Amino acid sequence: MMDKKKKAGIIVDVLMFALLLIQMLYVFTGNTAHEILGIGFFACVVIHIIIKRWWCASLFKKRESKRSKLRLTSDIITVLLICCIIALMLSSMGVSRLIFPWFEYLGSADLHRYLATAVLSLAALHGGMYFIIRAKKKKKAITLTALAVIAAAAVGLALVPYMNRHFKKVDISLSEKVSGDKAEWTGGRVLTVYFTRLGNTDFDDDVDAVSGASLMIADGELMGNDQLLALMMQDITGCDIKPVTITGKRYPSSYNDTIGVAMDEKRNNARPAIEKIDISGYDDIVLIYPLWWGDVPMPVATFLEENDFSGKHIYLIATQGSSGFSSSTATVKKLASGASVEEVMSIYCDDIPDSRQRLYEWVKNR
Ligand SMILES: Cc1cc2nc3c(=O)[nH]c(=O)nc-3n(C[C@H](O)[C@H](O)[C@H](O)COP(=O)(O)O)c2cc1C
Repeated sequence: MMDKKKKAGIIVDVLMFALLLIQMLYVFTGNTAHEILGIGFFACVVIHIIIKRWWCASLFKKRESKRSKLRLTSDIITVLLICCIIALMLSSMGVSRLIFPWFEYLGSADLHRYLATAVLSLAALHGGMYFIIRAKKKKKAITLTALAVIAAAAVGLALVPYMNRHFKKVDISLSEKVSGDKAEWTGGRVLTVYFTRLGNTDFDDDVDAVSGASLMIADGELMGNDQLLALMMQDITGCDIKPVTITGKRYPSSYNDTIGVAMDEKRNNARPAIEKIDISGYDDIVLIYPLWWGDVPMPVATFLEENDFSGKHIYLIATQGSSGFSSSTATVKKLASGASVEEVMSIYCDDIPDSRQRLYEWVKNR
């Protein structure tokens, strides 16, 4: 019969792994549940380490015989996992809005996501190594473990972000997300120029407002991600905002078809015609754009080439599904001749509705 300690250990391990998977589905659980379940996860980790404390002691023990290669690999994975869990715990506090709002370090949501994915994959490996080492029929155990690790990594790396972006409906209250503290724009006169799919696309009536489609519903109306950011900038600073709007053929309603069209445009270095935007009365331009194929969308390239930016400052805010600023900064520097160009922030598409505070802090402290 299995003793009580062992049973408790297995229950904690299963709970820990289940919590880790649930935590990856942040967009479905929401922030409050995510933070509370996060505490539960770290509590399970602490209990797991207490139960396995013999392993920590064995790490530093002098050995008569050499550690087998398998055990050495397993120990390295475990040490790495513990380091990542500690970093994840600190970054959880850094991004916390509910339980640890006073913790001001490691506040990057991107870092938090990367660490969570690393923990998930290493945890799967760590569990796998445990079974391999103990398995009598090694071949079968290795195959099963390899499958489990691939499945866990696939869930963490691909399936969760895919589900988040393609099945999560984004339905927001505009006043709740956009209105708030004001900050004065110091320096010159400022204009926010943004590009978004909405206004440049003939959407079908039944298009899905999911974050992966770069769309949301705000107060019952369709809204573009970057449009929402522009409205936030306007509310914070009182600045004028202007969209980049194409005048020719519009983009297709389907997200995937738009990807194809955008690829052709980038390949051909196209300059789609746009409505004129007069920037002559402004010193500072805040340029908000989605990354399209790691670059500015080609209509934004048109805007940059058509205007005289001599002596002006351009502040870049990119939105993206993973890629930071990619090569967009270099493109803006090349096309907006005479301007000084500064990267401000690159926002992951799921984080856009909750980005007002970041924008406000930037304007206040710049
Ligand atoms: C045509 C197209 C290409 C894209 N290319 C990238 C890319 O290269 N890298 C990335 O991280 N995200 C990419 N995305 C995701 C968008 O940058 C992201 O969803 C953005 O928030 C969309 O903003 P919008 O709703 O204002 O159009 C692409 C989206 C589209 C539609």
